[in-house]
Amino acid sequence: MIEIRQLTGDDWAIYRDVRLAALTDAPYAFASTVEREAAFDEWQWRAQLDRATWFVALDGPAALPVGLVGGFAEDDSADLHLIGMWVRGEVRGRGVAGGLVQRFLGWAAGQRPAGVVLWVADGNDRAQAFYRRYGFAATGRRQPLPSNPSVGEEKWRLPLG
Ligand SMILES: CC(C)(COP(=O)(O)OP(=O)(O)OC[C@H]1O[C@@H](n2cnc3c(N)ncnc32)[C@H](O)[C@@H]1OP(=O)(O)O)[C@@H](O)C(=O)NCCC(=O)NCCS
Repeated sequence: MIEIRQLTGDDWAIYRDVRLAALTDAPYAFASTVEREAAFDEWQWRAQLDRATWFVALDGPAALPVGLVGGFAEDDSADLHLIGMWVRGEVRGRGVAGGLVQRFLGWAAGQRPAGVVLWVADGNDRAQAFYRRYGFAATGRRQPLPSNPSVGEEKWRLPLG
């Protein structure tokens, strides 16, 4: 049984553990690195939770964190950003990622954005297939992946409303 819930600042240690697990597991997918974030102290983790709204997927009675997604609004855009999407390898393909995105979109709808945008790395075919299923499409806007500039990433967008 998977529960998805929104994290608050007091959940910073849960967020730290699942975020570091994500960065360790899938460095090819993220703009940041485990080396950078492993050095964060409590106040930096709390600041990350303040800067974006985060949802965690918790599995079973032990509430093992198995997935994460975050979102934030930029001042200069009518779109929301989806960030940090990750599901633990053992539970991929079982609807956890879909549950996280549905929860994210429910939260997003309340903000009435024009759309949802995200960056996805070249070659991350599984993530691209996943996002396509939810209606996201490549925009053609490209940049180097900040954590590994030898790889490109592309902005994808889901129009809303
Ligand atoms: C991206 C992620 C959250 C998706 O969760 P998931 O449980 O794997 O997603 P699903 O299994 O529901 O969907 C994956 C899709 O990719 C397809 N797929 C699986 N393996 C694939 C592969 N090697 N190449 C291409 N497509 C693949 C699946 O068939 C499915 O597509 P379909 O629904 O059209 O059949 C998860 O894979 C993950 O955490 N990846 C590592 C971190 C990451 O890449 N995050 C995204 C950052 S932008």
